Amino acid sequence: MNDKMQAITSRTYGGPEVMKLEQVERPEPRLNQVLVKVAATSINPYDWHFLRGSPFLIRLAESGLFAPKNIVLGADVSGTIEAVGKNVTAFKPGDEVFGDIGVGGFAQYAVCAPNRLSLKPQNVSFADAGVVGIAGLTALQALRDWGQVKPGQKVLINGASGGVGTYAVQIAKQLGAEVTGACSTANVELVRSLGADHVIDYKKTDFTQEPTKYDVIIDLAANRSIGDIKRAMLPKSVWVLVGLNIKNMLMVGLFGRWLFTESGKNAVLKIAEVLPEDLKTLGNMLAEGDVRPVIDRSYALKDTPIGVEYVETMRAKGKVAITVA
Ligand SMILES: NC(=O)c1ccc[n+]([C@@H]2O[C@H](COP(=O)([O-])OP(=O)(O)OC[C@H]3O[C@@H](n4cnc5c(N)ncnc54)[C@H](OP(=O)(O)O)[C@@H]3O)[C@@H](O)[C@H]2O)c1
Repeated sequence: MNDKMQAITSRTYGGPEVMKLEQVERPEPRLNQVLVKVAATSINPYDWHFLRGSPFLIRLAESGLFAPKNIVLGADVSGTIEAVGKNVTAFKPGDEVFGDIGVGGFAQYAVCAPNRLSLKPQNVSFADAGVVGIAGLTALQALRDWGQVKPGQKVLINGASGGVGTYAVQIAKQLGAEVTGACSTANVELVRSLGADHVIDYKKTDFTQEPTKYDVIIDLAANRSIGDIKRAMLPKSVWVLVGLNIKNMLMVGLFGRWLFTESGKNAVLKIAEVLPEDLKTLGNMLAEGDVRPVIDRSYALKDTPIGVEYVETMRAKGKVAITVA
C-alpha cells in the first residue's frame, strides 16, 4: 500500500493561511494504537486555538512553545479501521468507527488510541458520525455530569445554535429538562426546530434581565459577567462555564467557592473528557434518532482552511464538516 497520504499541515502558528495540503508519510500504528482511514472530520474552536497557539497557555501546556508539536490538526473523525497494533483487541480492520482523536484528523489516515473511538452504528452515516466528537461529548458531559440536569429542571443553553449548542438543546430535552436556547435572530427557528421549549433572541432580549431564572445554565457563549449570570440563576442552581472566557475562568477557578455560595449556587468549569462509553451513548442517540447533528457547511479536505476561517467567525450554525474519503 502507498505509504504517503494527503494531509492538511500547519508547521507554524498562525491563521488558516498557514494550513497547506501536503503529501506526508502515512502514520504507522504503534502496539497500542489503531490506524483509521478517515472518511469525515469536523472543525472545532479547539482546532483554531491550536492552529494559532492561542491562548498562549496551550503552548506551554500541550502545543509547543514556538511551533506546533502536531503539524496535522483535526480532533473529530469517522472512518474505517485500516490496521491495528499488536496489543489492540477492541477493534479489527474493517470496523467502522467514530470519535475524538485529539489531533491528526485533517488527513486521509490517522493513528490514535482505541479508547478515543467507538463503533459507528450502521444506520449512522460517516458524515454525521464525523461531526459528533468534541461537541457531542461536551454537550453530554456538561448537561449530565457537570450540570447534573434532572427532569423538569429549567435549563438555559447560552449559545444554542453553535456546534456544542445544537447538541446541548437536543440532549437536554432527552434528559427531560425544560429547555431555553439563547441565539441570534437568524438562528431562532433552527433552535426551535431542535426541540427548545423557549428561544431567546439575544439581539432583542437580555436573559439576565428577565424574570425567568434557571436551575442549570450551560454557557457556551461565555460572554456575560459573573454578576449578570448570577442574576439569572435560581437558588441551588449551577452555572456550567464551557466557553472560553479567560477572565471568568480565572474568577471561577480562584474564587468560585466564595462567589457562588449564597443560596447554594455553584459554578463549574471543566474540559470534556474522551470516554468511549460516552461516544457509545452519543452513537446510540444518533442511531435512535434522539439527536441529529446539524451540519451547516461541508468542505473537501483541501478546503479545510476555508472551513477553519468560517468557524473562527463564531457564526457557524451547528457543525462545519470536512469530507475526506
Ligand atoms: N470546556 C470544553 O471542554 C469545551 C469543549 C468544546 C468547546 N468549548 C468551547 O465552547 C464554546 C462553544 O463551542 P462551539 O463548538 O459550540 O463553538 P461554535 O460552533 O463556534 O459556536 C458558534 C456559536 O456561538 C454563538 N454565539 C456567538 N456569539 C454569541 C452571543 N453573544 N450569545 C449567544 N451565542 C453566541 C453563535 O450563535 P449566533 O450566531 O446565533 O450568535 C454560533 O452559533 C467555544 O468557546 C469553545 O472553545 C469548550
